[in-house]
Amino acid sequence: MRGKLVAGNWKMNGSLESIRGLMDGIKQGIGSVQGAAVAVCPPAIYIPEVARLIEGTDIRLGGQNVCDEDEGAYTGEISASMLKEFGCAYAIVGHSERRSLYGESDALVAKRFAAARRCGLIPILCVGELLEEREQGITEQVVGRQLDAVLELEGIAAFADAVVAYEPVWAIGTGKTATPEQAQDVHAFIRAKLAAVDRGIAENLIIQYGGSVKGANAAELFSQPDIDGGLIGGASLKADEFLAICQAAG
Ligand code: PGA
Repeated sequence: MRGKLVAGNWKMNGSLESIRGLMDGIKQGIGSVQGAAVAVCPPAIYIPEVARLIEGTDIRLGGQNVCDEDEGAYTGEISASMLKEFGCAYAIVGHSERRSLYGESDALVAKRFAAARRCGLIPILCVGELLEEREQGITEQVVGRQLDAVLELEGIAAFADAVVAYEPVWAIGTGKTATPEQAQDVHAFIRAKLAAVDRGIAENLIIQYGGSVKGANAAELFSQPDIDGGLIGGASLKADEFLAICQAAG
């Protein structure tokens, strides 16, 4: 049976001092979280420090992106093996900010997904539609296309060691959460699409919801049958709020 996973995506926020404070707070309260796995995804430069701070805890570590190539002349990129060497278990790929601000295509995201898996990292594949795409009624088409790029390159078996995060772009950082029903509909679509290829893999796949999740709305979202935790941006930067979300997942 699949479990619940809550991951904090810190994006490009924090300083050495603030992440130490944040991790102190999370570690103090993590004992109250039962029945959900918890991960944090710091800016890459802070990964070694956070790896040190989580030693001896069950908190897991992830990168916010990963290069599609294994090594070489790729200035500014970070490889899967580097993330792995510093203790990462996960790598987010295809976050909407990467897709929209840095022009990452479905094909490139699929290659990043593959690179993560080659090294034994679990990719957290972000998918989701823009507001105008939802208004045009093409949400499933968009999310389907984003999944197909990975299915075509890697095949369904790759989803046995992967996480999918459904993040409607209009809900990210806007304070506008999808209703539990809106989110559940897309989660069910994702699971059914993959189940049509392999039921077992689809049933075991963790599908997180992301987009303005906070302590006050997490429990209702996570109680939906196909929502298996969350990918948390803004609220993951406050220990109390992040812990409340993790508790809601447990
Ligand atoms: P948010 O971000 O929780 O701040 O909306 C979610 C995300 O981008 O992963």
